Amino acid sequence: MRIGILTGGGDCPGLNAVIRAVVRKGVKAHGHEFVGFRSGWAGVLDSSAVELTVDSTSGILPRGGTILGTSRTNPYKGDADGTELVRRGMERVGVDALIPIGGDDTLGVASRLAAVGVPVVGVPKTIDNDLNGTDVTFGFDTAVQIATDAIDRLHTTAESHNRVLVVEVMGRHAGWIACHAGMAGGADAILVPERPFDLDDVCDHLRARHARGRSFSIVVASEGAHPVEGALTTKGAQVDEFGHVRLGGIAAWLEREIEQRTGYESRMVVLGHVQRGGTPTAFDRVLATRYGVEAIDALSRGESGVMVSLRGTQVTTMPLAAALAEPKLLDPDLYATAEVFFG
Ligand code: F6P
Repeated sequence: MRIGILTGGGDCPGLNAVIRAVVRKGVKAHGHEFVGFRSGWAGVLDSSAVELTVDSTSGILPRGGTILGTSRTNPYKGDADGTELVRRGMERVGVDALIPIGGDDTLGVASRLAAVGVPVVGVPKTIDNDLNGTDVTFGFDTAVQIATDAIDRLHTTAESHNRVLVVEVMGRHAGWIACHAGMAGGADAILVPERPFDLDDVCDHLRARHARGRSFSIVVASEGAHPVEGALTTKGAQVDEFGHVRLGGIAAWLEREIEQRTGYESRMVVLGHVQRGGTPTAFDRVLATRYGVEAIDALSRGESGVMVSLRGTQVTTMPLAAALAEPKLLDPDLYATAEVFFG
């Protein structure tokens, strides 16, 4: 087979490790050929592709980002006949099957293609860890480690200045990064999209802490966190091709409000794309490698319309349609454990 690989959506540490694994196993064990489409689905539509070989993918395991580039291009945007456009792009490059690596948007396209007979095996990717059907996505561990390192550093400056430090981390629909990094970094409050917060309660936690003699606090907030009676904070109303608005600004709002309500000097930090940059952790390198190997094995077995998935310690496959039906939201038990340490 001649197989096209693409990376779509936000970049994520571990993408290159998946590409390397797919090509290495696919060439050595199955005798396949590979091309990489440039910039996600955009490369399929434009037939912009590069040959991928064992040699050309050598040395990319620890490299962040994606050697193929990425985009949020949606072949089905508006009234477009996405299936026909993708089929034509594949034909021009002589590709029989696809391995898209991406989050719910990229894999949503993959699922639609598979439903009409295009051979596709997806690989789930998101630092947000909000994809159902897999216990964890690669990139999440790296993002959590980066956020935890940042919180550790912010602790010492917060303590020196007797300040409240508000840290905004990624997480549109789910607070996995906030909860894990907040727990690992000993945050005094963690605000997540799944649990709209009452700012008076948050301020009470901080006051109680100060009353116990602590002169500083750390608040971690997902970009998608919002007050009970408030909307998401966004950067304008513009949406991408999948209809998502750009989030951001909750930490700036919290900094202002907390300082006004409590009188404690406050500062905010937005970690932003630092969380997606740089080399993957060892855990993410291994997970991405296992995903890549399973993806090419599954495609070679004749599977389609599935994505690879981690269940416990086993890497397996599951139907894309089922995996994408709902986002994977934060486990309430985990949040309850984190709450023990608030205030
Ligand atoms: O990949 C998901 C994500 O990390 C979200 O948490 C965030 O809202 C989004 O990417 C930001 O993406 P960008 O600014 O790169 O388009």
